[in-house]
Amino acid sequence: MCGIVGYIGTRKASPILINGLLRLEYRGYDSAGIATLEDEGLTVMKDKGRVKNLYNIPGIDDLKGTIGIAHTRWATHGKPSKENSHPHVDNSKSFSVVHNGIIENYNELRKFLTDKGYKFYSQTDTEVIPNLIHYYYNKDTKNDDMKLLRAVNKACKDLKGSFAVEVISKYDKEHMVVVRKDSPLVIGKGDGENYISSDIPAILSFTKDFYLLNDLEFALLSRDDIKFYDIDLNPVEKRVQVIEWDAASAEKEGYEDYMLKEIHEQPTAIRETIGAKLNEGSKCDFDELKFTKEYLQGVNKIYLVACGTAMHAGLAGKVMLEKLCKIPTEVDIASEFRYRDPIIDDKTLCIFISQSGETADTIAALKLSREKKARTLAITNVIGSSITREADYSIYTHAGPEIAVASTKAYTSQVVLLALLTIYFAETLGVSKKEVEDLKKEIIELPKKVEEVLKTDEQVREFGHRIYQEKDVFFLGRGIDETVARESALKLKEISYIHADSYPAGELKHGPIALIENGITVISIMTDPKLVEKTVSNIQEVITRGAKTLVVTNQKVDDKMFDTVVHIPETSPFVSPILSVIPLQLLSYYISKEKGLDVDKPRNLAKSVTVE
Ligand code: G6P
Repeated sequence: MCGIVGYIGTRKASPILINGLLRLEYRGYDSAGIATLEDEGLTVMKDKGRVKNLYNIPGIDDLKGTIGIAHTRWATHGKPSKENSHPHVDNSKSFSVVHNGIIENYNELRKFLTDKGYKFYSQTDTEVIPNLIHYYYNKDTKNDDMKLLRAVNKACKDLKGSFAVEVISKYDKEHMVVVRKDSPLVIGKGDGENYISSDIPAILSFTKDFYLLNDLEFALLSRDDIKFYDIDLNPVEKRVQVIEWDAASAEKEGYEDYMLKEIHEQPTAIRETIGAKLNEGSKCDFDELKFTKEYLQGVNKIYLVACGTAMHAGLAGKVMLEKLCKIPTEVDIASEFRYRDPIIDDKTLCIFISQSGETADTIAALKLSREKKARTLAITNVIGSSITREADYSIYTHAGPEIAVASTKAYTSQVVLLALLTIYFAETLGVSKKEVEDLKKEIIELPKKVEEVLKTDEQVREFGHRIYQEKDVFFLGRGIDETVARESALKLKEISYIHADSYPAGELKHGPIALIENGITVISIMTDPKLVEKTVSNIQEVITRGAKTLVVTNQKVDDKMFDTVVHIPETSPFVSPILSVIPLQLLSYYISKEKGLDVDKPRNLAKSVTVE
């Protein structure tokens, strides 16, 4: 979490920095700040709350510095307040630092520095960094262009934990130093100017040329040059990567909110994710994977590991992989998986799903699997993200930048990619031929069917209007529909702050039905012809107890039984989540709007969770 931006060039840095921060606010919005190098030295301006509050700080428009660093915070150590905001400075106000991550040994480092006479003014873990830099800078007797870099390097060697750090100093008005470990940071190369950001879209309007740092690599930036070093300060060669994303796709393009825009982008996101992988009459093509029949026949188990919405996509993946490939598959939450000593060996295939490719728990789970000799495969939306540098193989959803904290198009794209991967495995194994051919046809039809589902917008909005003041909502489903119930309950919680719970419909009578009383809302998903009657019976049980009901279905049901029935096109149950989730994404969106909440930036949440 937290977003960082940096600029070194010939233009006024402050508007560029604030512009970048506004695009990174999805990473946290507890406080914001910038530091620039002015003629008179380092100037730091920061405040609690949203990035836009920076515009109210007197004098911010007068900043002229052409080197600067900036930060938008998601609080970990120390409450959201001005003193805990970044940038932080050392005691002599000579070095300024922004940091994304957690310094695990900060207490120890604080003690070390306090014993040397340093004072601390915030409760953050970050404040040790500028002071350590000051400490090492003063001990260095050599005066050259690398002095700041050497001090940052020495300080970083003392740090335990995760960090993406930018440093500027009043002693060196020609350079900026950056380093990363387990937290994201990208470098954008311009013409006579260079940029830093936590993600690519935030600076895509300035450049398409990017350098990606590996863990514990340092960059020394000047206006015309960028030099890279390893932890021992040996030079490292890096190639520029040209990013093809269109800057406009990271804008709202007339939609009121990113979330609504991203919901409506799903036909395109799915089309792009299918890409050239699927063509009628030929085998599903994953060029980048060279999995042989012998390898797949020897796989003892597949793990799908992820967090949040990405984990829900994994639940749909399990159904497909087990039914079509007959390989035992488990879905695990990354933060649990990494600490429970899972049974893995070289015959286990571990698949990690992450929109951002930066989620700390998912990356840690991947590293653990590699240590245990499993083959690792990453599914992500961000080319060059940390996860792709750790995994043996990477495949990509092509959903484009997802900005709203609540994930929508990334989820449906992940389910599509998992379906394609399942087909690839089944075709390589030579199993489930008829089912695979049928599924291929259904997948090709999906973008058009998603467009159809988006037309349910008005009906869903009306239902949202009826229930937006509710305190509790229940979501029910069976089989693959239960995975959509989970995802929909999460969506509602995230952006409307309504308590929402999901259950397998058949489990209701084992406890949760005690909570059903007159007027309570129960939402159910019914897309599996084999299970629809069973779920209808369960819904009958809640109707009897006075529940208000919304049903999302592609089956024939007795509409009169329910308050609202949203009909969606028929498709294979394997990929039905891609269609059935959409009315429920819209429902959460409209409820949040009706409550006057900030849909794109729900409280306490961040899009990219780069801390444990
Ligand atoms: C956060 C986001 C969720 C997301 C989860 C996993 O909690 O708010 O929307 O599903 O992280 O993120 P990832 O980038 O790994 O998919």
